Amino acid sequence: MQINTLNQSPCTTEVVFVLEDSVSTIDVIKKAQDKEVFTAKAASSYFALGEGKNKNYLAIGLGKKDKLNAHSIRKALNTLYSQLKALSIDTFAVDTSTLGDNCTRLFVEALINSSYVFDQLKSEKETFKLKQVDIITQSVSEVTRDIKISQAIANAQNYAKDLKNLPANICSTDYLLNEAKKLVATNDHCSLHYIGEEEMLKLGMGCISAVGRGSPMPSYIACMEYRGGKKEDQPIVLVGKGLVYDTGGLCLKPWQSMSSMKMDMGGAASVFGTIQAITRLKLPINVIGVVALVENSLDGNSYRPGDVLTSMKGITVEIGNTDAEGRLVLCDTLTYIERYKPKVVIDIATLTGAMVVALGGDLTGLFSNNDTLAGDLKLASKESHDPAWHMPLHAPYHELLKSDVADMNNIGGPAAGSITAALFLSKFTENYTWAHLDVAGSAMTGFEKATATGRPVPMLTQYLINQVK
Ligand code: BES
Ligand code: ZN
Ligand code: MG
Repeated sequence: MQINTLNQSPCTTEVVFVLEDSVSTIDVIKKAQDKEVFTAKAASSYFALGEGKNKNYLAIGLGKKDKLNAHSIRKALNTLYSQLKALSIDTFAVDTSTLGDNCTRLFVEALINSSYVFDQLKSEKETFKLKQVDIITQSVSEVTRDIKISQAIANAQNYAKDLKNLPANICSTDYLLNEAKKLVATNDHCSLHYIGEEEMLKLGMGCISAVGRGSPMPSYIACMEYRGGKKEDQPIVLVGKGLVYDTGGLCLKPWQSMSSMKMDMGGAASVFGTIQAITRLKLPINVIGVVALVENSLDGNSYRPGDVLTSMKGITVEIGNTDAEGRLVLCDTLTYIERYKPKVVIDIATLTGAMVVALGGDLTGLFSNNDTLAGDLKLASKESHDPAWHMPLHAPYHELLKSDVADMNNIGGPAAGSITAALFLSKFTENYTWAHLDVAGSAMTGFEKATATGRPVPMLTQYLINQVK
């Protein structure tokens, strides 16, 4: 899709956004409002031929002005996209100013997200594609910059959705390793370093190795090193949980909970997406995108409840539940990346079902051992309309992770499940500034029929953009 910025556009179709409590300046739409054919209620629409034969208008209702927010704008953009498709309009002009100040980014990101279809595995492909959008504005240079950022972010989100939607029989650990190879090949400042199971055992990574042992798929830790900044700048390290499938292991999940577990690599998918976005934006910054690629399956060689594992850090872990595998995969990866002498580490993981219970499907849970970092991520979340909630690393709850036979247990019991999972990780991240994003709710919505969201690519990319300023 080509997106232009112009003072005025020669397009025959113009899209106009209309607030319910205002009257359109365009005559045919005003008439429709007067006759109440078009109410401008949230996500309503109206198509009209203009008086001059060469102009059509597609009006999209926004509802009342005081109710207008990112959420309602996204809904309006979904309506816009389905109307464009129904009318086979692939080229249009639009004035986004009715959406509010600085709303170009929201507009472009919502439009590209609305256009997402997953038809790779269908014989019949979607044929409708948007060709060209002319955004009419008086501040061409600012808006052009906004569009570039939005295109990078939203295309990266759609890329992350593709990876999540692909099932584990296709999107295996080898498939994702290959994806990392492809991604680094697109950019001169990017290279790949990865380790396999043998190296993991040599390094003493008893936790990640145990999780991968029940699956015939090989485990990998793959590091996409993007060095767009100065050589001496310490990197920001992103670590993504990449469970290509989570059966729960010997503590097998019921089938209803399993159907969305092809997306348990959602954290890793957001790392792939963010690396793609920053390489396209050529940010002058050093970032290492690390993905821990493992399958949690079961066979005679699986790790068991009751086993005691020794992590790379030397901390011993008693297994209370083999379904709490994410923290085991992450703890060794978080120790491994100390070699990069990171300025900041952010891990992203579909870590706990308890996160969905606490915050629902929309909010990302944000934990950090540093208030400045938490504040920076909150700001990025707000600016990119990618909602997150600051959660507590409540120290007294460390007690819930006590084990009789080892240094720690991998589960903390039924209470405060997301907090105890984060506290578990915090034992491995004491040497650097760290944040943990639990995206069990926000990376996918719904359970038995989950859909991929491509989040938190917007928040992460915005955070990295802000680090450049
Ligand atoms: N992958 C799940 C978490 C999850 C659940 C993500 C639902 C997205 C939607 C994770 O590995 C898991 O199973 N966690 C257990 C931990 C428990 C055994 C302490 C959980 O949440 O039930
Ligand atoms: Zn899992
Ligand atoms: Mg699990």
